[in-house]
Amino acid sequence: MGVNLRGRSFLKLLDYTTEEIEYLMSLSENFKDLKRAGTPHKYLEGKNIVLLFEKTSTRTRCSFEVAGYDLGMGVTYLDPGSSQMGHKESIKDTARVLGRMYDGIEYRGFSQELVEDLAKYSGVPVWNGLTDMFHPTQMIADFLTVKENFGQLKGLKFVYLGDARNNVANSLMIASAKLGVNFVGCCPDELKPEESLIEEAKKIAKENRCTIEFESDVMKATKDAHVLYTDIWVSMGEPAEIWEQRIKQLKAYQVNKEVMDNADEDAIFLHCLPSFHNLETTTAVEVNDKFNIPEMEVTDEVFESAKSKVMDQAENRMHTIKAVMYATLK
Ligand code: CP
Ligand code: NVA
Repeated sequence: MGVNLRGRSFLKLLDYTTEEIEYLMSLSENFKDLKRAGTPHKYLEGKNIVLLFEKTSTRTRCSFEVAGYDLGMGVTYLDPGSSQMGHKESIKDTARVLGRMYDGIEYRGFSQELVEDLAKYSGVPVWNGLTDMFHPTQMIADFLTVKENFGQLKGLKFVYLGDARNNVANSLMIASAKLGVNFVGCCPDELKPEESLIEEAKKIAKENRCTIEFESDVMKATKDAHVLYTDIWVSMGEPAEIWEQRIKQLKAYQVNKEVMDNADEDAIFLHCLPSFHNLETTTAVEVNDKFNIPEMEVTDEVFESAKSKVMDQAENRMHTIKAVMYATLK
């Protein structure tokens, strides 16, 4: 394929063509094979990257770190609050300083504009590790996992249940449209994405002969689906007071055995993680004490079932982030 992503930032999938996204997925498969075979691949030795996190992370941070080391790079991690960015130094100044020292910058935080500004002013590739609007690196891992299970993507029915206006849902809708996957957002009307983004996704979907739909009825939405995907009901950065309202809005959208059984017999369950499927976290216990909901967006039974591919999906974050960094830095 004649795809060249050298020097590009990875800020949102809307900036990437279908061919470019497919290229990143196929590069990820190659890196996964190399890692599994124990074949060294320090292709980016001598380069350095910085990881800026204004929100917490397990998978994304570890993926960037391990992928960076595997590629032979130096990696600096700046945790929430430990840089001057925002409070003592403008984004423009921070971007220009980091661009003088590093070959690439990862950013996780709040506004999409901020990550776009980092890319504009730093002069080096910037990778979006999640903003309030989009989570593009998650998408390459998610659709790679789907491909590993079904052999291909085109024509599959992909249902997202939950807060369909969040970063993950917005990104899944766009990724589906780009990759020829039929996307259904299953949520109450008030939790649908911005109308302008839906329209944009529908336009892209038309070019790729697939559909973007919204359906509030869980049984109608999930009938014969190939992939059921959900995410936590309250995203990072949202106030704790919103739990009560969100539980009321989304309780009926829990992925449980009945919902899973309504999907195709070969259907898989995916979740970007972290997930509230039991009471083994302090947040889940606090929410359960107040609202009596021991399992939230997915039941423990589904999460731990053979249909659940969430750990493969989590592993794929590392291989796919490696592909994104390699393609843009090589
Ligand atoms: N899925 C995901 O981005 O996980 P982290 O928040 O742990 O990075
Ligand atoms: N929507 C979630 C995704 C976490 C990976 C959040 O933003 O908290």
